[in-house]
Amino acid sequence: MRVLPLLAESTLNLDNIQGDILSGLPKKALTNYYFKITDAAVFKKDMKAFIPQITTTTKAKQHRETIEGFKIQRKIRLFESHSDLGPALAINVGVNIGFSKSGHAALGIDIGSHNKSFALGQADDAIGKGTHDGEGLNDPEISGGGKPDWDKEFLEPIHGFFLIAGDSDTSIKTKIGEIETAFKDSISKVHSVSGKGLHDKKEHFGFRDDISNPAIEGFHQVTTTYPKAVKPGVILLGHPGDPNVSQHQGWIKDGSFLVFRYLHQKVPEFNKFLIDNAINAQAEGSSVQDSIDLLGARMFGRWKSGTPIDVVPFVKNDEVAHNPDRVNSFRFSDEREIQKLCPMAAHIRKTMPRDDRSDEIVDRSRIMRRGIPFGDPVTHTELSSEKSDPQKPRGLIFHCYQSSIEWGFRFIQITWANNPRFPLRDGEERETLPGIDPIIGQRKVVEERKMSGLNPHNAKVELKFPDPFVVPRGGEYFFVPSIQGLKEKYAVA
Ligand code: HEM
Repeated sequence: MRVLPLLAESTLNLDNIQGDILSGLPKKALTNYYFKITDAAVFKKDMKAFIPQITTTTKAKQHRETIEGFKIQRKIRLFESHSDLGPALAINVGVNIGFSKSGHAALGIDIGSHNKSFALGQADDAIGKGTHDGEGLNDPEISGGGKPDWDKEFLEPIHGFFLIAGDSDTSIKTKIGEIETAFKDSISKVHSVSGKGLHDKKEHFGFRDDISNPAIEGFHQVTTTYPKAVKPGVILLGHPGDPNVSQHQGWIKDGSFLVFRYLHQKVPEFNKFLIDNAINAQAEGSSVQDSIDLLGARMFGRWKSGTPIDVVPFVKNDEVAHNPDRVNSFRFSDEREIQKLCPMAAHIRKTMPRDDRSDEIVDRSRIMRRGIPFGDPVTHTELSSEKSDPQKPRGLIFHCYQSSIEWGFRFIQITWANNPRFPLRDGEERETLPGIDPIIGQRKVVEERKMSGLNPHNAKVELKFPDPFVVPRGGEYFFVPSIQGLKEKYAVA
């Protein structure tokens, strides 16, 4: 995880905010443990006893400092040629907790009616059933079933989840044992998913992830002129920048909404697409592999290393990816017409459009991404058959935090990624539309799954994506309360 530098003194109450939200719990591995509440009164008693075990932002920061200190000590021992370097990782484990709409109902907690998508739940939102705006995420639907085509466990009501992150599966297993003992008379397990960081912070398609997250005023230190820090209320409820700030009950402050999406990735199919459609747009003497890499980079808006193509468009470059002053400081401002540098529909342009919209519009839809990959890398058999093995699912446990699901995740997914017109402005006409986000854009009509701008010599050429490379198989919306909120509402006084 790329960790933004922090201010020496934060203006936020870091003892009150769960640790994954702003700081991110250190995660080599993660398990989400989904549960149902079997006895609300006993749960509230158990919760009271468990609250000290919830990892706050203060504790998450301390974990990070310990890990950094451990790494330095190890380097010194290596430099001094010690034969015993000790364990490779500092042992650490953190726990956070969140509750869905049905969890709030089970506990009799009213969270307020303005959080419309949260109140609906993600399964209905996924297929646009009963949504306040008639829109939905466009997930595939079980035919005639009125339900998204998800793993059956995610179609069961889930009341809440423990997010357990740490250095290894062993530490996580121990912590799960402690949780099961602490809540033995008040919860039952519905399901769990586990993820693990891949080499070099990459996701399964091979691109470095976790590069761009918003800096938060009063918490992160910002060293570049762009992007500026956003107001804390973009991520935390009850602060300036929260669109519903005046409507919340007091205990809501310092909580955040977590969007979880269980996203499968079709890696061999994605690789085949790149090979079949490679663009020859590079300098003379470039290889077939260069052309394949260029297509991938234009679909994401970054090279696999993380270097943005708006900065280095045609030649693979690792350098900018490692330069904190340059890796996020670009604005898609030079070329709306020709899309020579970065296609309008590239994943990072659809999800953070920078100068394609005003700072006000872009800032209110920023999200704090905290996901982790799951599943093993592609096997040789899958590579040679160019098909994913259904027995070996892999993908992303997508997590993002925001103060408003409507302005955060949902706006990005529906109004930007799924919308073939975005980022054109109202009334702006084009012969060919930008198209959908090639990674996460979802359209029900197969013919509409396409984008332009991939060929830098001719931006009007469209490429079609008959089958999605990312398939949602589950998800839910959760509220992750503050420590004070947990004490007041989710535990006995
Ligand atoms: C399996 C699915 C996905 C994959 C493989 C993926 C991959 C990536 C990669 C490689 C980056 C560039 C690295 C970075 O900026 O940190 C990125 C950025 C980003 N993604 Fe995704 N992503 C996925 C799903 C999503 C979803 C569902 C959303 C939200 C609806 C999303 C929102 C974003 C945002 C906001 C950025 C940062 C853009 C920026 O600030 O430049 N991603 N993603």
